[in-house]
Amino acid sequence: MARIPDEFVQDLLNRLDIVEVVERYLPLKKAGQNYAACCPFHKEKSPSFTVSPTKQFYHCFGCGAHGSAIGFVMEYEGMGFIDTVEKLAESIGMQVPRSEGRADDAPRRQQQTSLVELNTRAMHFYREQLKQSPRAIDYLKRRGLTGQIAARFGLGYAPGDWHPLAACFSDYATNPQLNEVGLVIDHADSGRRYDRFRDRVLFPILDGKGQVIGFGGRVIDQGEPKYLNSPETPLFQKGLELYGLPQARQAIRAKNRVLVVEGYMDVVALAQHGVEYAVATLGTACTPEHVKKLMRLADQVVFSFDGDRAGRKAAWRALENSLALASDGKTLSFLFLPAEHDPDSYIREFGHEAFEALIDRDALGLVAFLARELAAQVDLASDEGKARFLHLARPLVEQIRAPALGVLVRKKLAELAGLEMAEAVQLLGGAMPAPAAPYEVPQPSRQGEGWSGKGKGGGGGWKKTGGKWSKRDELPPITTPRPNADLGRELLQILMIAPRFALELPQFELTSEALSPSLRAVLRVVDYVHGLDQPPASGHLLEAMRGDEVYPLLAEAMTKGEFAYGHGDPEALAETWRGALERVLLQLERPRVKRRLSELEAKGFGNLSPAEKDEYGRLSLLGRAI
Ligand code: UTP
Ligand code: MN
Repeated sequence: MARIPDEFVQDLLNRLDIVEVVERYLPLKKAGQNYAACCPFHKEKSPSFTVSPTKQFYHCFGCGAHGSAIGFVMEYEGMGFIDTVEKLAESIGMQVPRSEGRADDAPRRQQQTSLVELNTRAMHFYREQLKQSPRAIDYLKRRGLTGQIAARFGLGYAPGDWHPLAACFSDYATNPQLNEVGLVIDHADSGRRYDRFRDRVLFPILDGKGQVIGFGGRVIDQGEPKYLNSPETPLFQKGLELYGLPQARQAIRAKNRVLVVEGYMDVVALAQHGVEYAVATLGTACTPEHVKKLMRLADQVVFSFDGDRAGRKAAWRALENSLALASDGKTLSFLFLPAEHDPDSYIREFGHEAFEALIDRDALGLVAFLARELAAQVDLASDEGKARFLHLARPLVEQIRAPALGVLVRKKLAELAGLEMAEAVQLLGGAMPAPAAPYEVPQPSRQGEGWSGKGKGGGGGWKKTGGKWSKRDELPPITTPRPNADLGRELLQILMIAPRFALELPQFELTSEALSPSLRAVLRVVDYVHGLDQPPASGHLLEAMRGDEVYPLLAEAMTKGEFAYGHGDPEALAETWRGALERVLLQLERPRVKRRLSELEAKGFGNLSPAEKDEYGRLSLLGRAI
């Protein structure tokens, strides 16, 4: 059966933010580092359902429900795995690939994490360089930015020579990934390599989760091109990303409003002046994916475009891409600044309050903007003009699925064309499309299809150890049940809520020992995490193990771990981890110690060599300790 590659599922989870996903279904309130709500899976009056953005999982302290973003939607919608993955992928414009059988494309995932790492290193380097460049600092100051805001957006400076990044990467000359991620350019003819960004102020572009996926670099003062951006890479797709989102997220939520602007500088300058809920499209038109994302972020989406012709055109594109997605519960509006201004210059000149007053007073609703633009293209005083007006309007109006908005727009256009509503409905296509919100299109449930688990058949049960690939299900069989079957349980619980600890463990070579189920699960997790470039978020880890025999244990450990340790401070957690680890290692040693002691005893103490006597002494001490 065609299956969804594991790799794709992890990719999908990497691009989704569980907070955003859960919020499509229920409103969340910020509670410390997490978000909280009344649990949708059991009846309750006070919220015990939490969503962790860092761990990328949800967990209910009341009923124990828990899982990843995928798990949440499966549970909430009662859908199967495949349907859920498809739905979530569609919601962010990803296409689900299908592969037959084995899908060991984990290397690509690893590659993506290492691309992020390269970008992150470059970002730190550029930030350091900014501190040492009075010229760049002066430029930013002249644009009204403080050091604080520069730090908040991670602004940096790329020095002017050909290879500044050589100071940052020791494999600068040879690492192909530097080219792939767009940090350097390999000259086609000479084969010479040089930095993409030179003598520019750099704006790191972060995705929704705060990973550095690219950069935009502005020339200092005048020069062409004004901005240079990272190319599209496996990490960075301009049509999906919104600049400034991680920095803006909290304010967007608090204000229930998101402002969309055109430029990097607009976002930063607005934040500098207290309008912190702005994001920018990255020098591209606003795509349907952008609009979907924006509408999930807040109930009020305000597009603010420059007052010039280009701005007006960009606004129209945004409108075209919003029509099918508009919903009656949300407002989309369009703010046009005076022709000589962009948000940056406006707020610098007039300040925060004037800017927000402008939004409240002058932003045009979707219907008003549509009517205004169409009316501007025709002569509404003539019958021919009116006919043309309706002709132009029809394909646009027909896209609107929100029932109330659909009526209102027809009414407005009818008025402008001097028609009765009934006539307008006839001319504009009156059959109202099914009232379905864009990202809540009900899907036929294909129950029973289920997911195709890994580790079954020729599935994805492959792992990478020391550069070699091998089959994953070669863990030792459980032979005798341990007297203490819970050995390792504590470890597993901590590991599930803080997978980074896996890196503190070697990949065990425990072959003959009888292991408790928890320990087998610990080993599986350690094994998996070692194969990645960086530790996964808990929710991602759990999702990666779906279908594995240890999955139920992991799921249980995750929720118990969250309950027991989820809210302690990291220091204390590390302490607990080390304590548990020590106990487990000692316990694992016990059979070996006992065996060796009886071997030595069998020889008779008198026959032992001095070294053996020494060993006997140590082991009997240890044997008593464990
Ligand atoms: P603008 O020309 O409006 O730039 O382009 P801006 O943000 O106001 O910049 P300042 O104030 O002159 O510094 C808007 C956006 O279009 C993209 C960038 O993302 C920019 O922020 N752009 C613009 C480019 O990618 N390349 C360019 O050469 C110009
Ligand atoms: Mn500008």
